[in-house]
Amino acid sequence: MQRLDIEAPAAGGVAVEIDGVGKRYQGVEAVRAISLSIAPGEFVSLLGPSGCGKTTTLRMIAGLEVPDSGTINIGGTVVNSTPPWSRGIGMVFQSYALFPHMTVFENIAFGLKMRGEPAQNIKTAVNDVMELVHLSELPDRLPSQLSGGQRQRVALARALVIKPRVLLLDEPLGALDRKLREQMQVELKLIQRQAGVTTVLVTHDQEEALTLSDRIVVMSSGQIVQIGSPSDIYSRPANQFVADFVGMSNLMRARTALVEGNRVSVRFPNGRSYIAQNDVSVAHPCDVDVFVRPESIKLVRRPDASSAKLSGTVEHIVYAGASTYAHVSAGLEKPVLVCLNQKQLDASAVGIGDHLSLDWDEADSLLMPALVDKCARRTS
Ligand SMILES: Nc1ncnc2c1ncn2[C@@H]1O[C@H](COP(=O)(O)OP(=O)(O)OP(=O)(O)O)[C@@H](O)[C@H]1O
Ligand SMILES: [Mg+2]
Repeated sequence: MQRLDIEAPAAGGVAVEIDGVGKRYQGVEAVRAISLSIAPGEFVSLLGPSGCGKTTTLRMIAGLEVPDSGTINIGGTVVNSTPPWSRGIGMVFQSYALFPHMTVFENIAFGLKMRGEPAQNIKTAVNDVMELVHLSELPDRLPSQLSGGQRQRVALARALVIKPRVLLLDEPLGALDRKLREQMQVELKLIQRQAGVTTVLVTHDQEEALTLSDRIVVMSSGQIVQIGSPSDIYSRPANQFVADFVGMSNLMRARTALVEGNRVSVRFPNGRSYIAQNDVSVAHPCDVDVFVRPESIKLVRRPDASSAKLSGTVEHIVYAGASTYAHVSAGLEKPVLVCLNQKQLDASAVGIGDHLSLDWDEADSLLMPALVDKCARRTS
């Protein structure tokens, strides 16, 4: 692996500070007064569904869009009126935006040429970065003679070669096939770690965000819904939207039967109830969703196990490569999704029609008020 000699970040401080930044296009509120601090060297992903404002946010950091409100600070300076080329950023676009009449080498060298770097320095830097992204064999090709994945790698190389203070990536690996994408993810992470370059990645691919990021910013309808480490986002989603968008989840509708501090007795529509620990103050009575990941649910052979929270019948079994999922009908609105992983005793013996008990550890579940505003307030 090459060592890209990008200036190491200063310890502490803030590399990028977004404060109350909003953007509206002809009646569409693309981004609604968002605030976010990114530490030097941090890898942050903006994750969310199509149209939630990820690209608009990135383009405002880059200086390609002007915010209607708020300030953007890069490296301690407010850059709202600084042109893109003076912000010290490298960017890879959702569309490759390569110069069609220039070769791979010339495309990558462009930024350094514009800066007036000596030809020998440019040659060395471009060769290093071409090796890094596996393009050393193709310096003389034109973009029209490359595959989509190769074009994307030229775009990445072109952003890295200028040794940016902040690297902005908009779905940079989206065009690659799965295997190459996974390989490039590992490489991208290694490059980023080695160089310590502050990186903001836009993606709607939750696996990519979980794999690459130090922190994930989940967005919906122009707003930030949650900011946290990949494990926070995965195991402590802030609400049903995050739980549903990131990974597979069960959101089982129930109703409070009794609330005493953080101990909440919940009753499922099938009449089963149990006492849950909760860090949300829940009004009573109130509808709640019990959140549990499919891999956190344990199957118990005895259908009447008194300690188990639910019981049900296996409706379908879906084989998904590394994991197999059972859909268990337990008298709730939707079947409960259970991952038949190594945790499950005799998982291979689970079959359609089996009647089983379902259980989970309290630490692996969350209660989410169904009507957030009316029924609850966060206490922690
Ligand atoms: N130049 C524009 N003019 C008008 N509306 C725009 C413009 N650019 C973006 N929008 C709208 O702003 C909203 C946010 O768009 P944005 O491109 O930031 O979404 P995104 O999260 O990057 O989505 P995707 O994952 O599809 O790329 C969308 O409703 C989009 O239609
Ligand atoms: Mg986009």
